[in-house]
Amino acid sequence: MMVVRSPAKVNLFLRVLGKRDDGYHHLSTLMQTISLFDYLHIALADQDQLTCTDFRIPTDKRNLVWRAVDLFRKKTGLSFQLRILLEKNIPSEAGLGGGSGNAASVLWALNELCGKPASLSTLMHWAAEIGSDVPFFFSKGTAHCTGRGECVQELEHLDLSPFWVVKPSFGLSTAAVYRKVQIKNDQEASELVSFLLGQPCYINDLEEAAFKEAPHLKAVKEELEKLGFSKVMMTGSGSALLCFGEGNPDFNSYSFSSKVSAIRRDPIGWY
Ligand code: C5P
Repeated sequence: MMVVRSPAKVNLFLRVLGKRDDGYHHLSTLMQTISLFDYLHIALADQDQLTCTDFRIPTDKRNLVWRAVDLFRKKTGLSFQLRILLEKNIPSEAGLGGGSGNAASVLWALNELCGKPASLSTLMHWAAEIGSDVPFFFSKGTAHCTGRGECVQELEHLDLSPFWVVKPSFGLSTAAVYRKVQIKNDQEASELVSFLLGQPCYINDLEEAAFKEAPHLKAVKEELEKLGFSKVMMTGSGSALLCFGEGNPDFNSYSFSSKVSAIRRDPIGWY
């Protein structure tokens, strides 16, 4: 039996640079892993079985955990069955990469259990077949991601003060939000330089699209802005919002709220 921590991620900036021929969007985004974790309990078994502490999450082949297991078995040619318990703490449909992190963590864990048949960079390469956000988790936890999100450029750890993650009562579908995005042509792409110079520029081009998909989200953002935070922004395709600076969310108004810190992957291990 192996227990693996599967972290959430946030997007500290996310620019949508254009639409690609394959239907995806060109991105420039700064991703960071945070101190909010699911736990995967993985054991060899006679047959495949996934259970999840959150009954709303599908445990059949739609779950990215199985996409990762099947991909690992296909790539390595190894055959084994697993019993997995997914202890869910990261809210879904929130833009926190919970499912992507689960898939990355399973790939890493299976590679360890099987005596490391693949290198970390091979696992990262395989991860892109599961989803655009999955390769990022094989960085050390801070990276500038481009392409559809799968081109990962490792960065030094950022000196970020703890901040709040708040999710309203509703979630958002990533595909639905991307369908509503309007590409602006005034992109300067200077956000990375600003961050590296210690002058963070928190911006998410998917926010307007998310407000169209769920108009109430804009009101939630404005409500949080009135609580004294210096900046409130959406992460990924939402619906979770990040609140930077001093302030305290009203815990009863949201389905999830937690103060988090940036975290790093152990260079020779996992999170
Ligand atoms: O890669 P992933 O399966 O996580 O993406 C989910 C959906 O989000 C895609 O089907 C696509 O509609 C949208 N997407 C996009 N551009 C990206 C990443 C995701 O349009 N760069």
